[in-house]
Amino acid sequence: MSDRDKSAYGKLCTLIYDLDKPLADKQEIDSFIEHISSASGRILEAMCGSGRFLIPMLKEGYCVSGFDSSAEMLKACSERCRELDLHPRLFTADVTDFNCDEKYDHVFITAGSASLLTTIEELSNAFRCIFNCLAPGGNFIFTYVNRGSREDTDSDWKEVMSYPLGRGVISCMEKVTCHASLRTVIYEYLYEVSENGIITGSEYQKLALRTYEFSELYTALHDCGFRNISEAEGCGPGSECGMVICRK
Ligand SMILES: C[S@@+](CC[C@H](N)C(=O)[O-])C[C@H]1O[C@@H](n2cnc3c(N)ncnc32)[C@H](O)[C@@H]1O
Repeated sequence: MSDRDKSAYGKLCTLIYDLDKPLADKQEIDSFIEHISSASGRILEAMCGSGRFLIPMLKEGYCVSGFDSSAEMLKACSERCRELDLHPRLFTADVTDFNCDEKYDHVFITAGSASLLTTIEELSNAFRCIFNCLAPGGNFIFTYVNRGSREDTDSDWKEVMSYPLGRGVISCMEKVTCHASLRTVIYEYLYEVSENGIITGSEYQKLALRTYEFSELYTALHDCGFRNISEAEGCGPGSECGMVICRK
């Protein structure tokens, strides 16, 4: 299994993601919408996953397209949209290496997902691609992890989620390893589907989240040509995520 396969949001991951985190609530959506000046603009959600934000925004009348590197997350997004008679433009792409034939007035990234890009090089590549797909004056709004552990820690595997699925159960085991000096947390997940105590499917996922300082993001964004770069209140009190807004 390649590193990319291991970190991918696969089929079982997607199933449990949607059971655990259904559509975003109004407060979460509003924290992005308040920075989007007009409902008539074209919006792109990068790393949109299965549509937790994209779908409620479409329902509110916003014109939102989305992309993600996980075929399974996008498939779930597309199925959920079809059930609601919503027909957004969805495409598979890597945020660090994509081109857009269309220009957007707003691009956004939710859920601290910018921190899934664990080097400044990767992040700068993503910022450059996003800059190129924005219309002049377009906004880029994203969240990232800004608070991490100050110590190296290594947890045991433990079950963190379990949901009924068909005639069986889907569960998720998690192991968390903090590398304080690297400002990185490694999350390992083992998803299992079982029926009458017999395991019928399993999937492993390993992903890293990197903590960033606003000043690092400011420099990377500025170097890509963004301006009016500022931090916004948006992730709510006690959150480990920061929000950045900037303009092309
Ligand atoms: C935590 S999920 C967030 C999904 C959605 N935005 C939400 O709030 O539910 C992170 C998403 O980022 C996607 N992702 C991770 N690395 C990516 C990359 N390099 N390019 C595009 N998408 C990526 C994953 O496939 C996953 O769907």
